[in-house]
Amino acid sequence: MSVKISPSLLSADFINLESELRKLEENKTDMLHFDIMDGVFVPNISFANPILKQVKANTDIPLDVHLMIDRPHRYIKEFAKSADFLGFHFEAGSPVAGTLKEIRECGCKSCLTIKPKTKAEEIFEFLPLCDMVLVMSVEPGFGGQAFMPESLEKVKALRAEIDKNGYNTIIEIDGGINSETAPLAVEAGVDVIVAGSFLFGDKMAERMNFIRSL
Ligand code: DX5
Ligand code: ZN
Repeated sequence: MSVKISPSLLSADFINLESELRKLEENKTDMLHFDIMDGVFVPNISFANPILKQVKANTDIPLDVHLMIDRPHRYIKEFAKSADFLGFHFEAGSPVAGTLKEIRECGCKSCLTIKPKTKAEEIFEFLPLCDMVLVMSVEPGFGGQAFMPESLEKVKALRAEIDKNGYNTIIEIDGGINSETAPLAVEAGVDVIVAGSFLFGDKMAERMNFIRSL
Protein backbone atom coordinates (compact mmCIF):
# COMPACT_ATOMS: atom_id res chain seq x y z
CA MET A 1 0.00 0.00 0.00
CA SER A 2 1.46 3.37 -0.94
CA VAL A 3 2.16 6.08 1.58
CA LYS A 4 -0.66 8.52 2.28
CA ILE A 5 -0.30 12.26 1.67
CA SER A 6 -1.48 15.14 3.85
CA PRO A 7 -0.63 18.47 2.17
CA SER A 8 -0.12 21.31 4.64
CA LEU A 9 -2.59 24.14 4.05
CA LEU A 10 -0.05 26.59 5.48
CA SER A 11 1.52 26.77 2.02
CA ALA A 12 -1.78 27.22 0.14
CA ASP A 13 -2.88 30.31 -1.77
CA PHE A 14 -5.48 31.66 0.67
CA ILE A 15 -6.93 34.13 -1.82
CA ASN A 16 -7.88 31.16 -3.97
CA LEU A 17 -8.66 28.64 -1.28
CA GLU A 18 -11.60 27.12 -3.12
CA SER A 19 -9.54 26.34 -6.22
CA GLU A 20 -6.82 24.90 -3.97
CA LEU A 21 -9.43 22.56 -2.46
CA ARG A 22 -10.68 21.46 -5.88
CA LYS A 23 -7.09 20.83 -6.99
CA LEU A 24 -6.46 18.69 -3.90
CA GLU A 25 -9.65 16.74 -4.61
CA GLU A 26 -8.68 16.22 -8.27
CA ASN A 27 -5.35 14.86 -7.10
CA LYS A 28 -7.18 12.55 -4.68
CA THR A 29 -5.33 13.69 -1.60
CA ASP A 30 -5.73 11.38 1.38
CA MET A 31 -6.04 14.17 3.95
CA LEU A 32 -5.50 17.89 4.40
CA HIS A 33 -3.12 19.05 7.15
CA PHE A 34 -3.99 22.12 9.26
CA ASP A 35 -1.26 23.85 11.25
CA ILE A 36 -2.87 25.68 14.15
CA MET A 37 -0.35 27.96 15.93
CA ASP A 38 -0.93 30.21 18.93
CA GLY A 39 2.27 32.29 19.21
CA VAL A 40 2.88 30.75 22.66
CA PHE A 41 3.71 27.09 22.15
CA VAL A 42 5.44 28.08 18.89
CA PRO A 43 6.82 31.49 17.88
CA ASN A 44 4.28 32.01 15.11
CA ILE A 45 0.51 32.50 14.73
CA SER A 46 -1.45 30.93 11.89
CA PHE A 47 -5.17 30.35 11.43
CA ALA A 48 -7.80 28.63 13.51
CA ASN A 49 -11.36 27.41 13.68
CA PRO A 50 -13.19 29.84 11.34
CA ILE A 51 -11.11 28.62 8.40
CA LEU A 52 -11.24 25.00 9.53
CA LYS A 53 -15.05 25.09 9.74
CA GLN A 54 -15.48 26.64 6.30
CA VAL A 55 -13.13 24.14 4.69
CA LYS A 56 -14.95 21.27 6.44
CA ALA A 57 -18.25 22.53 5.03
CA ASN A 58 -16.82 22.64 1.51
CA THR A 59 -14.94 19.38 1.03
CA ASP A 60 -15.05 15.70 1.90
CA ILE A 61 -11.27 15.48 2.31
CA PRO A 62 -10.49 14.17 5.82
CA LEU A 63 -8.99 16.98 7.90
CA ASP A 64 -5.76 16.31 9.79
CA VAL A 65 -5.42 18.96 12.50
CA HIS A 66 -1.98 19.63 14.02
CA LEU A 67 -2.43 21.76 17.15
CA MET A 68 0.68 23.74 18.03
CA ILE A 69 -0.96 25.47 20.97
CA ASP A 70 -0.29 25.69 24.70
CA ARG A 71 -2.41 23.41 26.94
CA PRO A 72 -4.46 22.08 24.00
CA HIS A 73 -6.91 20.14 26.19
CA ARG A 74 -8.75 23.46 26.60
CA TYR A 75 -9.77 23.38 22.93
CA ILE A 76 -10.32 19.71 22.05
CA LYS A 77 -14.13 19.91 21.94
CA GLU A 78 -14.06 22.94 19.68
CA PHE A 79 -11.58 21.54 17.14
CA ALA A 80 -13.16 18.08 17.24
CA LYS A 81 -16.26 19.52 15.55
CA SER A 82 -14.32 19.78 12.27
CA ALA A 83 -11.28 17.49 12.61
CA ASP A 84 -11.02 13.87 11.47
CA PHE A 85 -7.53 13.36 12.90
CA LEU A 86 -6.89 15.63 15.89
CA GLY A 87 -3.36 15.85 17.22
CA PHE A 88 -1.53 17.81 19.91
CA HIS A 89 2.01 18.07 21.19
CA PHE A 90 3.33 15.83 23.97
CA GLU A 91 5.29 18.88 25.19
CA ALA A 92 2.35 21.32 25.29
CA GLY A 93 1.33 20.95 28.94
CA SER A 94 -1.85 18.88 28.70
CA PRO A 95 -2.55 15.57 30.48
CA VAL A 96 -1.46 13.23 27.69
CA ALA A 97 -3.58 10.12 28.28
CA GLY A 98 -6.68 12.12 29.24
CA THR A 99 -6.45 14.35 26.18
CA LEU A 100 -5.96 11.39 23.82
CA LYS A 101 -9.01 9.70 25.34
CA GLU A 102 -11.07 12.86 25.04
CA ILE A 103 -10.20 13.15 21.34
CA ARG A 104 -11.49 9.62 20.75
CA GLU A 105 -14.60 10.25 22.84
CA CYS A 106 -15.34 13.23 20.59
CA GLY A 107 -15.33 10.83 17.61
CA CYS A 108 -11.97 11.85 16.13
CA LYS A 109 -8.83 9.83 15.49
CA SER A 110 -6.24 10.69 18.14
CA CYS A 111 -2.73 11.86 17.30
CA LEU A 112 0.21 12.56 19.61
CA THR A 113 3.00 14.75 18.19
CA ILE A 114 6.65 15.03 19.23
CA LYS A 115 9.12 17.85 18.65
CA PRO A 116 12.63 17.10 17.35
CA LYS A 117 14.21 17.05 20.82
CA THR A 118 11.70 14.57 22.30
CA LYS A 119 12.74 10.93 22.24
CA ALA A 120 10.44 8.31 20.70
CA GLU A 121 10.66 6.21 23.90
CA GLU A 122 9.01 8.99 25.90
CA ILE A 123 5.69 8.31 24.19
CA PHE A 124 5.76 4.50 23.97
CA GLU A 125 3.38 4.12 26.92
CA PHE A 126 0.74 6.21 25.11
CA LEU A 127 0.76 4.30 21.81
CA PRO A 128 -2.32 2.18 22.65
CA LEU A 129 -4.27 5.45 22.91
CA CYS A 130 -2.94 6.86 19.61
CA ASP A 131 -4.50 6.27 16.21
CA MET A 132 -1.55 8.20 14.79
CA VAL A 133 1.76 9.61 16.02
CA LEU A 134 3.33 12.62 14.33
CA VAL A 135 7.12 12.92 14.27
CA MET A 136 8.22 16.50 13.59
CA SER A 137 11.20 16.64 11.27
CA VAL A 138 11.62 20.42 11.79
CA GLU A 139 11.08 22.61 14.85
CA PRO A 140 7.35 23.38 14.69
CA GLY A 141 6.31 26.90 13.77
CA PHE A 142 7.15 27.55 10.14
CA GLY A 143 6.88 25.96 6.72
CA GLY A 144 9.83 25.74 4.35
CA GLN A 145 12.51 24.64 6.85
CA ALA A 146 15.24 22.04 6.28
CA PHE A 147 14.55 18.40 7.17
CA MET A 148 16.28 17.07 10.31
CA PRO A 149 17.65 13.59 9.48
CA GLU A 150 17.66 12.57 13.19
CA SER A 151 13.90 12.25 12.91
CA LEU A 152 14.34 9.09 10.82
CA GLU A 153 15.74 7.16 13.78
CA LYS A 154 12.66 8.12 15.79
CA VAL A 155 10.39 6.89 13.03
CA LYS A 156 12.25 3.57 13.01
CA ALA A 157 12.02 3.24 16.80
CA LEU A 158 8.29 3.92 16.73
CA ARG A 159 7.76 1.55 13.79
CA ALA A 160 9.55 -1.24 15.70
CA GLU A 161 7.59 -0.64 18.90
CA ILE A 162 4.24 -0.50 17.06
CA ASP A 163 4.95 -3.66 15.07
CA LYS A 164 6.31 -5.54 18.08
CA ASN A 165 3.13 -4.91 20.06
CA GLY A 166 0.69 -5.18 17.17
CA TYR A 167 -0.71 -1.67 17.71
CA ASN A 168 -2.83 -0.08 14.96
CA THR A 169 -1.11 3.30 15.31
CA ILE A 170 0.02 4.89 12.05
CA ILE A 171 3.10 7.15 11.77
CA GLU A 172 3.11 10.59 10.15
CA ILE A 173 6.10 12.83 9.46
CA ASP A 174 5.98 16.61 9.03
CA GLY A 175 8.55 19.19 7.97
CA GLY A 176 11.09 19.60 5.18
CA ILE A 177 9.67 16.91 2.92
CA ASN A 178 10.83 17.08 -0.72
CA SER A 179 12.02 14.72 -3.46
CA GLU A 180 15.16 13.85 -1.49
CA THR A 181 13.68 13.42 1.98
CA ALA A 182 10.35 11.73 1.13
CA PRO A 183 12.08 8.47 0.05
CA LEU A 184 14.05 8.42 3.33
CA ALA A 185 10.87 8.86 5.35
CA VAL A 186 9.11 6.05 3.49
CA GLU A 187 12.10 3.77 3.94
CA ALA A 188 12.12 4.51 7.68
CA GLY A 189 8.51 3.32 7.89
CA VAL A 190 6.10 6.28 7.80
CA ASP A 191 2.48 5.79 6.74
CA VAL A 192 1.57 9.44 6.11
CA ILE A 193 3.67 12.28 4.70
CA VAL A 194 2.87 15.94 5.35
CA ALA A 195 4.29 18.38 2.83
CA GLY A 196 3.62 22.08 2.40
CA SER A 197 6.03 24.08 0.26
CA PHE A 198 6.88 21.01 -1.86
CA LEU A 199 3.28 20.32 -2.90
CA PHE A 200 1.49 23.64 -3.31
CA GLY A 201 2.15 25.36 -6.63
CA ASP A 202 2.03 24.27 -10.25
CA LYS A 203 3.75 20.90 -9.73
CA MET A 204 1.23 19.47 -7.24
CA ALA A 205 0.05 16.60 -9.45
CA GLU A 206 3.48 15.33 -10.45
CA ARG A 207 4.86 15.70 -6.93
CA MET A 208 1.94 13.85 -5.37
CA ASN A 209 2.42 11.08 -7.93
CA PHE A 210 6.12 10.99 -7.07
CA ILE A 211 5.38 10.50 -3.35
CA ARG A 212 2.79 7.82 -4.14
CA SER A 213 5.30 5.96 -6.30
CA LEU A 214 7.74 5.50 -3.41
C1 DX5 B 1 5.55 23.34 10.72
C2 DX5 B 1 4.29 22.68 10.25
C3 DX5 B 1 4.35 21.98 8.96
C4 DX5 B 1 4.70 22.84 7.77
C5 DX5 B 1 5.38 21.96 6.76
O1 DX5 B 1 5.36 23.75 12.03
O2 DX5 B 1 3.86 21.73 11.23
O3 DX5 B 1 3.16 21.26 8.71
O4 DX5 B 1 3.59 23.46 7.19
O5 DX5 B 1 5.87 22.74 5.76
P1 DX5 B 1 7.02 22.25 4.78
O6 DX5 B 1 6.54 20.98 4.15
O7 DX5 B 1 7.19 23.39 3.84
O8 DX5 B 1 8.25 22.01 5.65
ZN1 ZN C 1 2.13 20.46 10.72
